[in-house]
Amino acid sequence: MAKLVATGPNADQIEFWNGEGGEKFVRYQNALDLMLKPFGDEAMRRADVKAGEAVLDIGCGCGDTSIDLAMAVGVTGEVVGVDISEPMLARAEYMAGQTELTNVFFELADVEAGPLHRDSFDLAFSRFGVMFFRNPVTAFSNVHAALRKGGRLSFACWQALPRNQWVSIQLQAVLPLVPPPPMGPEDPGPFSFADRERLRGILSQAGFTDIAIEPFDTEVALGGMLVLDDAVDFSLEIGPATALLKGASDDVRAQARDAVRAALQTHQTKRGVMLAAGAWIVTATKG
Ligand SMILES: C[S@@+](CC[C@H](N)C(=O)[O-])C[C@H]1O[C@@H](n2cnc3c(N)ncnc32)[C@H](O)[C@@H]1O
Repeated sequence: MAKLVATGPNADQIEFWNGEGGEKFVRYQNALDLMLKPFGDEAMRRADVKAGEAVLDIGCGCGDTSIDLAMAVGVTGEVVGVDISEPMLARAEYMAGQTELTNVFFELADVEAGPLHRDSFDLAFSRFGVMFFRNPVTAFSNVHAALRKGGRLSFACWQALPRNQWVSIQLQAVLPLVPPPPMGPEDPGPFSFADRERLRGILSQAGFTDIAIEPFDTEVALGGMLVLDDAVDFSLEIGPATALLKGASDDVRAQARDAVRAALQTHQTKRGVMLAAGAWIVTATKG
């Protein structure tokens, strides 16, 4: 696989997903797949995937959804997963190699950087792989160009932080101990599409029509079915609280751990630490 150099408007994301971010997503792959599965399943259900279709999986990461999509389209269809992260794509190749599938392929590419397989796909899909573009209109215009006429778009992205207790609860616990993040609400990151009207405008500018943005609210077991202390470790390893604690002293880290543990404790159940999570399921077409 050719290397992707960390340059251009997404240089910081390329660096993150090929460094610490990608390494952690690979390490916690099972936990993350368990947590994210209901959202991906809902986006697939709304996509109405059919046998024989060609599907683009945007920001496919470790390949869980690419594999599910490849099963759904069958031997007469095919799936191409694209991502900027070499370690995650290596994991995706490995996971696909553990199956009998011959119709799933992975490509290292920045979706925003240029056209991808023009007029080739019936469906462009993503599970939380589309919120990290510096110029989302450019990226979605490339996705639009990759679809055949009448092709569909279906993806899951996060609603606003307050609707996502599985992240906000740790941030609230940690914020009294560290300076707040310097990020703006529309900067590339998990919550950059929280504003539904902004998202609709981006998709419309990129050429999509029949845009529907529906809430999908549920509860997730933090990191899968983890006991409290493992859920605390998971919280401090992955997600926005981790970034806030970067460079913090051992003393602050210990205080943060206690605060996160206390916050999560009240949500501990026999099924794990259960917290609210809210996504948008977005569908649109290339008219
Ligand atoms: C939160 S992860 C989701 C991964 C996977 N879809 C899943 O559900 O497990 C976001 C993914 O988007 C990828 N990504 C971010 N910016 C991208 C870009 N400009 N082009 C392609 N992939 C990108 C990251 O490398 C990462 O794999």
